[in-house]
Amino acid sequence: MNDRELLNLAKQASANAYVPYSKFAVGAALECDDGTVFTGCNVENAALGSTICAERTAVCKAVSEGHRSFRRIAIYAEGTDYCMPCGACRQVLAEFAPDMEVLCAKAGGRYVSYKLGDLMPHIFSLSL
Ligand code: THU
Repeated sequence: MNDRELLNLAKQASANAYVPYSKFAVGAALECDDGTVFTGCNVENAALGSTICAERTAVCKAVSEGHRSFRRIAIYAEGTDYCMPCGACRQVLAEFAPDMEVLCAKAGGRYVSYKLGDLMPHIFSLSL
């Protein structure tokens, strides 16, 4: 799957976003090493801190289905700026794939690509 196809899946997922509070719909499409794609959207809550971002929705769907190896994630929102993953999502993605590629899109479909390790260097990890 090419970048554009993955971004289109993220855009489609944003249509399911539950965003009565921010009105800011986000979609994510997470590609696993075996090519499987899990999508996600943000799911807000009246207790605002209980909101779940699109990226973490996708990660939880993947992990709960037995997938833990990721190579790319596409993130889409209909905004004027590129939709960057928040700090919590960077940490959660890095738990599984610290070197994965992150595609961040904005309205009109333009996107930028980063290595997660550049967005989130020196992640917290438990050294037991
Ligand atoms: N949001 C995401 O879903 N992903 C991000 O990377 C940034 C923020 C959501 C959370 C909330 O529902 C809305 O965008 C506004 O912060």
